[in-house]
Order: sequence, then C-alpha cells, then structure tokens
Amino acid sequence: MKDRQPVYVRGLGAYLPEKILTNADLEKIVDTSDEWITSRTGIKERRIAADDQYTSDLSAEAAKRALADGGLAAGDVDAIIVATVTPDMPFPSTAAFVQKKIGAHTCPCMGIEAGCSGVPYGCELASALLRQGPYRNILAISADKLTAITDWQDRLTCVLFGDGAAAFLLTCDAEGARGEILDIYIANDSSGVDALYLPGGGSRAPATEETVRNRLHFLKMNGQEVYKEAVKSMGQAVATILERNNLVPDQIKFFSPHQANLRIIDAMARQINVPLERFLTVLQWTGNNSSPSVGIALDDAVRAGRLQHGDLVVLVSFGAGLTSGTVLLRWIG
Ligand code: UT7
Repeated sequence: MKDRQPVYVRGLGAYLPEKILTNADLEKIVDTSDEWITSRTGIKERRIAADDQYTSDLSAEAAKRALADGGLAAGDVDAIIVATVTPDMPFPSTAAFVQKKIGAHTCPCMGIEAGCSGVPYGCELASALLRQGPYRNILAISADKLTAITDWQDRLTCVLFGDGAAAFLLTCDAEGARGEILDIYIANDSSGVDALYLPGGGSRAPATEETVRNRLHFLKMNGQEVYKEAVKSMGQAVATILERNNLVPDQIKFFSPHQANLRIIDAMARQINVPLERFLTVLQWTGNNSSPSVGIALDDAVRAGRLQHGDLVVLVSFGAGLTSGTVLLRWIG
C-alpha cells in the first residue's frame, strides 16, 4: 500500500522435481483416462519428487535459485519462512532444514499452514517482518510434496497433484529489485474447513494401526465444493485488491492463479471479463502442486521473458482453510 514502506522482490526461484508422471501412467494405477483428466482439469502430466527428496529439498533448490537470481548469498538471509502442508516432519520446522541445506546463518526459521495460499500468506508475513525490522532479506518459500499425502487408490484426487517449490527473496531495499509488492490481501473462510483436509497424524487422530488402515493419512477433498468456493473466493480476492488500489482488470498484464484446474481458471477469467491468455498456466505439465503454484507460474513467465518493466501482475491463490489471497506486483525487470 502506498502509505507503507515498500517491499521488493529481489529474487525469484522455482523448482520442479525431475520425474514426470503422465496421464497415461495414471491410467495404469487407477480407473481413469487421459481424456477424463485433460477435459476435467487441463492437466497432462505432473512432477513427482524422489522418495528421498523432501519438502525441505524442494524448498532449498528454489531458495538457491532465488538467491542466485537476486545476486545474494545464503549468509545474507535474515529469516526463512516456509509455507507448506507437507512439512518434512511435524517439528522442527521445514525452514530449519532449509537453513541447514542452503547454509544460512542462525536466522529465525518459521512455518505457515495456509493450504495452497502459501505465497500470499508468506509474502504478507515477510513484508510485516521487513517493515518492523531489523530484517533486510527474507526468504518466503512455498513448497509441497503433495504426492506424500496423496491416496493413490482415490482417482478423484490422485490425478490432480504434483510436487514443487517457489521462493521469493524479499527486501525493503529498492536497489537491484526485480519487482515491487504493491499490496497483499489474505483471508480465511472457515465455513469450508472440512472441504479439504488431512485427518490423520495430528493431535486429533494420532497415528495408530487403525488410522493407517482407514487411510486417514491421505488428503481428503470434496472436489465440487472446493471447485465452487475456489471460483467464488479467488474472484472476490481479485476484486478486493483491484478495488482498493483503484485498478481495473484491463490494467493487469497477467493474472497468476492457483494452478488447480483449467476450468476454474477459465471461470475466473470469464467472471472478470479477461481473456484466458492473460492468465498464466503451467498446470498442464506441473499438475496442482499446492502452495508454490502461483509462484511457479510467475517464474515461468519471467524466464520466458513475458514480463516487461512496469507490468502489473496479480497472483491469486486458494486452498485448505479455506484460505484465499492475492499479491499485487509491479514488475521492474
Ligand atoms: O488445491 C486445492 C484446490 N483444489 C481444487 O481446486 C480442486 C477443485 N475441484 C476440481 O477441480 C474438480 O471438482 C475435480 C477435478 C476434482 C473433479 O471434477 P468434477 O467435474 O467436479 O467431477 P465430479 O466429481 O463431478 O465427477 C464426475 C464423474 C463421476 O462419475 P459419475 O458419478 O458422474 O458417474 C466421478 O466418479 O467423474 C468420475 N471421476 C472420474 N472418472 C475418471 C472422478 N474422478 C475421475 C477420474 N477418472 N480420475
């Protein structure tokens, strides 16, 4: 917002694991088809982390790329935030493992559980810390190894997800900035708290033979409810951030939406009367990788040279909670 100290994106990094799982591969695992998955979601393939590759590994790769992009070293990092629903383990925080893996000093490390809205939530927390001081450079990472909590017997969910990470290196220093965060909006509508959840493994249903037998350690989703809420709340989040910045959709070069389903993105585009071409999509080859998805789509556009100096971009997320959030960004270059 204009009356607050500006926060800048100094570096951006994304990471997708190497292994590809195609729709044809899924046809061999569950009763599904490439035709169904493509027509219902737009997804053709997704990236799967290796068994010994954890959320902190995905995060560390994205973080190293963001640091290289911003021309800073791990020693320059003053705090690490990791937004994830698939931490390496309940504690210590995944950010602590990232600190070790990238070789950062003893800076504070913390986590956020915001479902697929990790990017706006992480950027909001990082921005508040940067404005408060004494931090100069903060890594706001969003990463998920969703395939670790995917039920490969549930065809309604297992065809959707993939793994990945995105890192934003944020600072209050205008020098060398690649983008400026103009505004962030985040929200949570708990009326949908039971539409998307992982029932087992927490304090409510600690792991027992029964929780394992009942498949409670896998993600559960009411697809149709989540679909409807996604269109509604992402539409509202976009409207809110545009309105409070006196902007109209035509002034936004690109929207980077949560990469859950091409039909959701198409419905959003029609809702705000913006051609689908102005919505960045990578889900065709990434699947829905949860918290990092809007960052991965942004990174893809940046690497492809699609953003010019001065372009406005809106990242818009939606996820378990039910969370939603937007980041309004001015690209610098
Ligand atoms: O990142 C978190 C946010 N997540 C989301 O945003 C996901 C939101 N939800 C969705 O994207 C969609 O609801 C899905 C892609 C999950 C499902 O699409 P849908 O159009 O809502 O399908 P549906 O649940 O209404 O199922 C339609 C039919 C059913 O068969 P009948 O009852 O009509 O005979 C399902 O059993 O499709 C069947 N079906 C499948 N068929 C082949 C469900 N999954 C599959 C499958 N392959 N994988």
